[in-house]
Amino acid sequence: MDIKTVETSYARWAPVYDRTFGAVTRTGRRRTVDFINRTLSCGDRVLEVGVGTGLALEFYRPELRVTGIDFSTEMLAQARAKVTQLQLTQVEELRQMDARALDFPDAQFDTVAAMHVLSVVPEPERVMAEIARVCKPGGRVVITNHFMRTEGPLAMLERVSAPFANVLGWHSDFAIETVLGEDVLEIEQQTSLPPLGMMTFLVLRKRMG
Ligand SMILES: C[S@@+](CC[C@H](N)C(=O)[O-])C[C@H]1O[C@@H](n2cnc3c(N)ncnc32)[C@H](O)[C@@H]1O
Repeated sequence: MDIKTVETSYARWAPVYDRTFGAVTRTGRRRTVDFINRTLSCGDRVLEVGVGTGLALEFYRPELRVTGIDFSTEMLAQARAKVTQLQLTQVEELRQMDARALDFPDAQFDTVAAMHVLSVVPEPERVMAEIARVCKPGGRVVITNHFMRTEGPLAMLERVSAPFANVLGWHSDFAIETVLGEDVLEIEQQTSLPPLGMMTFLVLRKRMG
């Protein structure tokens, strides 16, 4: 999917996202934020890449400092409305940005979260390189995503729906290896999430030095 398609596709999704895809992916979002809340200390910084409509924002502990970025201005507008309406003081910044070129210095964030986003972005390997760069040594990258199955009836369904990526707004045949190419990031946890193990919860740790 190219960036223009991301823009038009998520402009369409923005008004209905929370009641559709957003509603069925709640488990992964809660799991990710619960993990971050448990593993970070007061004042630690989180970057949420592809923050979308900001469905996860209200669950971060108020003592954390959260930055969200997204390419879609329409999705970000929904996130900004939540921050204002719910007075989410843990959210320091929401910025329009391409995840392939993060406008942050190296080693800025204690945790970088990417929920349901890596199978959507163009050039996911480049996004992973950027995520690794802005994460502090010893910090974590927490990913929730659907990854392609290699067997079973759902594997076939994923292969059949793959050509419709531009209509759906994500790739159904996205291989986990795509996000595992950064040598500085080591797998710390990998779990399938309910329902049906559709989503994978993945924690990567950035090597020290
Ligand atoms: C399926 S939504 C997930 C939103 C949110 N993380 C969630 O769990 O609800 C994918 C998001 O990725 C964003 N996105 C896609 N490509 C991007 C890019 N290159 N840079 C920043 N955001 C991007 C889209 O605009 C969209 O908001």
